[in-house]
Amino acid sequence: MGILEGKRILVTGVLTDASIAFSVAKLAQEEGATVVLTGFGRLSLVERIAKRLPEPAPVLELDVQDTDQLDTLASRVGEHVGGLDGVVHSIGFAPQTALGGNFLNTSWEDVATALHVSTFSFKSLAVACLPLMKEGGAVVGLDFDASRAWPVYDWMGVAKAGLESASRYLARDLGKQGIRVNLVAAGPLRTMAAKSIPGFKEFEESWPSRAPLGWDLTDTVPAAKACVALMSDWFPATTGEIVHVDGGVHAIGG
Ligand SMILES: NC(=O)c1ccc[n+]([C@@H]2O[C@H](COP(=O)([O-])OP(=O)(O)OC[C@H]3O[C@@H](n4cnc5c(N)ncnc54)[C@H](O)[C@@H]3O)[C@@H](O)[C@H]2O)c1
Repeated sequence: MGILEGKRILVTGVLTDASIAFSVAKLAQEEGATVVLTGFGRLSLVERIAKRLPEPAPVLELDVQDTDQLDTLASRVGEHVGGLDGVVHSIGFAPQTALGGNFLNTSWEDVATALHVSTFSFKSLAVACLPLMKEGGAVVGLDFDASRAWPVYDWMGVAKAGLESASRYLARDLGKQGIRVNLVAAGPLRTMAAKSIPGFKEFEESWPSRAPLGWDLTDTVPAAKACVALMSDWFPATTGEIVHVDGGVHAIGG
């Protein structure tokens, strides 16, 4: 029996089969969950990628900047599953001007977009799913350690710091409904989002040698395993937490 047997999970953020969300959806199904996906923009691509999962999974449209799509999300998900036990937020975006060393010159409009899509949407998505989570459940988001300033990550780093804080406030406000809220802080992975960061190579070059456990830039499974574990019944008293899945880099100085 899998650790998500009988659970119904909404997974956002599948774009390609390199997406962290793709690994989460695949592993969740292998662990017994029924999975519903949301996709943004390139829906036919997402539908094609979804066919590579062990089981067919419906794909619903969700742009987290679109209030109508958020408002109708619960009823649209409800056409496929009677409720939700888990929700995965695997969404991030920042305009090019907000990344790559342009920190001092980025306009507020571009920063606002980064924060809307990458930070505020964690709250929007959780709240949109509440009508389906009457029996409690788990919300998990994907983070990149925001406790320090990194090269090139710039306003995305600020967005992730906000995500870490928003996660704690969500944990505070949703705890009484039996909903746990946690983040997985993954090390760098070669996904579409990562490739769009100018200078991402800097992370790629240093991370594997700095990580006590080593680090495979192409393996999304360790981060996905943590997401699945956090949605299982094996973290019943854990909320507001950040689990680092980075080969151990966060713990090492120098
Ligand atoms: N790749 C890494 O190195 C890394 C490391 C740590 C954390 N993360 C985080 O993991 C999450 C998933 O990213 P990924 O690396 O798998 O890349 P990805 O490009 O595969 O996924 C990013 C997803 O965000 C979605 N998205 C963008 N704008 C959206 C919007 N307005 N509404 C809804 N969805 C939108 C995209 O469609 C895409 O599916 C992000 O939060 C990212 O910051 C990535």
